[in-house]
Amino acid sequence: MSEDLGQQNCFDIEFAVPQFHRLRFTQDCFGSEFPVLQDLFEASVNQTARLQVWVDSGLVEHDSDLVANITQQFSQTPGIELTSPVQQLAGGEIVKNEPEVINRLLQTIDDDNLDRRSYVVVVGGGAVLDTVGYATAIAHRGLRLVRLPTTTLSQADSGVGVKNAVNWFGKKNWKGTFATPWAVVNDRKLLEGLSDRDFRCGFSEAVKVALLKDPEFFYYLCENAAKIAARESEPSHHAIKKSILLHLKHITRGGDPFEVRQARPLDFGHWVAHKLEAVTNYRLRHGEAVSIGVAVDTAYSYLTQHLPLEIAEQTFASLQDLELPIWDFSLKDEVLFEGLEEFRQHLGGELTITLLQDAGRPIDVHHIKLAAMREAIQMVSYYANIDLSSPVT
Ligand SMILES: NC(=O)c1ccc[n+]([C@@H]2O[C@H](COP(=O)([O-])OP(=O)(O)OC[C@H]3O[C@@H](n4cnc5c(N)ncnc54)[C@H](O)[C@@H]3O)[C@@H](O)[C@H]2O)c1
Ligand SMILES: [Zn+2]
Repeated sequence: MSEDLGQQNCFDIEFAVPQFHRLRFTQDCFGSEFPVLQDLFEASVNQTARLQVWVDSGLVEHDSDLVANITQQFSQTPGIELTSPVQQLAGGEIVKNEPEVINRLLQTIDDDNLDRRSYVVVVGGGAVLDTVGYATAIAHRGLRLVRLPTTTLSQADSGVGVKNAVNWFGKKNWKGTFATPWAVVNDRKLLEGLSDRDFRCGFSEAVKVALLKDPEFFYYLCENAAKIAARESEPSHHAIKKSILLHLKHITRGGDPFEVRQARPLDFGHWVAHKLEAVTNYRLRHGEAVSIGVAVDTAYSYLTQHLPLEIAEQTFASLQDLELPIWDFSLKDEVLFEGLEEFRQHLGGELTITLLQDAGRPIDVHHIKLAAMREAIQMVSYYANIDLSSPVT
């Protein structure tokens, strides 16, 4: 035995780590359905679950009782200890750009002596979820994160995801980790204060995931886009739930939750989106940039992958019916194409861009023809009714 060991110097051992996803849907989780939330916290050795709560201040502007409600619910629940007052963070992309925010989060976690069995509850849009998620993932190499996404986008997409990140070196999501949240609660009431603009933003990710994985859902979105834009409850919540479940299935059953392979199939349209967000200095919301990116890569799929014109036209029309942009003048700036290299670098290895051969039939390509991409951008401008010969830029 010891002789064999002496001669063997390479040990290549594959191992798997079980992950567990807890997903809940509620109508009013800080009201009558608080028990759904409460049940997610397991008591630790001292018989209490210790937790901190961080809230996106955008919500508080629309619901001034929210912080008091959350405090009251957690404080009166036996077995739960709120270790400090509910904290607020300014929402939106700015929160991901400020290193002091991460320091504040880590300091508060340390001041409260949270450990790996403690919980951080975050209630907010995708930017606040990402930031709090990142700090929670690196403190003691990972505390338990309970996410309550409060935008349609963060419910429909990032909330169930296993990623978090902040912006660094002026680059989007440069600093971050993969970490499965302890639980995700999608609550309807928390969406009520959203502006119409932010409400519509989440549905570009729904169109994206439908185009990639579920043609029937894509047709549903095409038919119901105008109702969703008008915030009709039934189609909006159906679309959000369907989108969440498609994203979740990809993560839990797709075989590559931590993106070890080169392809990032859920990132259809995202090389454009990430670059547009940066070059417009985040004037465009992520959901708006995704809408434009999906339109561009759909046009390019039509020009290079035989995607039927009908699907491309339905995609442009559904995004427009959702009152989302499919065009921005920064698409004319050649700096956009740097987004391809940045996208490659983020993953490493060969450039891999997911395109479409048909609705529900994605394909990965490793090379983008810039001339055809310029033509795709031109095509989108045509469907957006933009006159490119006009001097307005
Ligand atoms: N980690 C991931 O897998 C992943 C996936 C997709 C997107 N993202 C990230 O998510 C971010 C975008 O998130 P977003 O679209 O949710 O927007 P956001 O977090 O930027 O929020 C937009 C605005 O809405 C406000 N707000 C949030 N909830 C509200 C509510 N219920 N009522 C009123 N105002 C509210 C916020 O304060 C903010 O001003 C981007 O940084 C993007 O990179 C991450
Ligand atoms: Zn996205």
